[in-house]
Amino acid sequence: VPDVVVIGGGLIGMGVARRCAQLGLRVMVTDPSPGGGASRVAAGMLAPVAELHYGETALLHLNLESNSMFPDFVAELEEVTGLPTGFHRSGTLLVGFDNDDMAVLADLHDFQSSLGLAVDRLDSRATRRLEPLLAPTVRGGILVQGDNQADPRRLHTALLTAAEAAGVEIRREPVAALLSRSTAGGAESCADSGRATGVRLASGERIPAETVVLAAGCWSASLDDLPEAALPPVRPVKGQLLRLRPHTPTAGHGTAPGFLRHTVGAVVKGSAIYIVSRPDGEVVVGATTEELGFDTGVTAGAVYELLRDARALVPTITELALTEPAAGLRPGSPDNAPLLGESALPGLVVATGHYRNGVLLTPITAATIAELIATGRTPDSIKPFSPRRFMHTAATGAHPPIAAQRRSLA
Ligand code: GLY
Repeated sequence: VPDVVVIGGGLIGMGVARRCAQLGLRVMVTDPSPGGGASRVAAGMLAPVAELHYGETALLHLNLESNSMFPDFVAELEEVTGLPTGFHRSGTLLVGFDNDDMAVLADLHDFQSSLGLAVDRLDSRATRRLEPLLAPTVRGGILVQGDNQADPRRLHTALLTAAEAAGVEIRREPVAALLSRSTAGGAESCADSGRATGVRLASGERIPAETVVLAAGCWSASLDDLPEAALPPVRPVKGQLLRLRPHTPTAGHGTAPGFLRHTVGAVVKGSAIYIVSRPDGEVVVGATTEELGFDTGVTAGAVYELLRDARALVPTITELALTEPAAGLRPGSPDNAPLLGESALPGLVVATGHYRNGVLLTPITAATIAELIATGRTPDSIKPFSPRRFMHTAATGAHPPIAAQRRSLA
């Protein structure tokens, strides 16, 4: 009988599960396809500073803390498993083309500087010296040395391997319902209040557990029998992106230069875009931000716009092979920040709503949620992100972000 059942085996769920097991807890992860959700589609930007948004300074601090944990987090994972994570100190270069783009960058630079963040403003020449494949029409940029990248697919494989090695049991089955016990006592049932006592799998099997962790990304609000007050207000925010590769394979992990030297983000005539270029040659161009429910279709329009803007940024990108268009669902929350901690239902801990920062926030989510479960105390870092901060709002669809239909830098 596990102490902890984690619903969802993406980067977040697997990270939490592994850390719990390292702390001596018996852990089970349930997921019909571990790593098959947002973790599989995410580009892997680790960009707390480049993707900073107004009004999100609390989130910035969480993002920065997790970013600072990343080097040790991946080094230890790589040592234990012998597997790569694609962590790469690429830095992130933000660039602009016209007066409007440059005004957006200037505002962002002022905001970043006012918060004491390490950012360098560059003119056109300096920008292209750093990244010679950029179009000559690039007007200038901002270099963020501390914003890096990881490869979410490789990272997930390493995390899953390490979790199993730490004793985590992985059940490749969907959860049908949360089990809970009413405060009045009585037999275990699918009740509407009281305390979470485990889960019922789709097969009908009941798995009792002391603690249930809800880490099912944008599906976290879909669980049957979750009391209204404990329902996390997450919704799917679709992101379409493209994967490309050189026609000639590069020499090997970490040795080849990659297509670009940095992760590059840009506002191209008002549309935001990013290009994550990995040392193994893979190039990811993203991403749309669409409020279309659970739809994961790839559209011709998105492929066109992403390629159009990527070509404006880096003309030679059209020489690469297009290997995979993809669409994923970010778990959006009403304030774009994650939901981390105890829910309104005792025994149910929530780790979801990471929106654009799921890869980046994996280390801190794993560490803090496991600490909460093991000690019963909520670590200071996640106190501002309690799932209970939304208890007064309706469950889903509450306060969609103002820029919901626009592509974001993130
Ligand atoms: N931060 C990457 C994305 O959400 O598209």
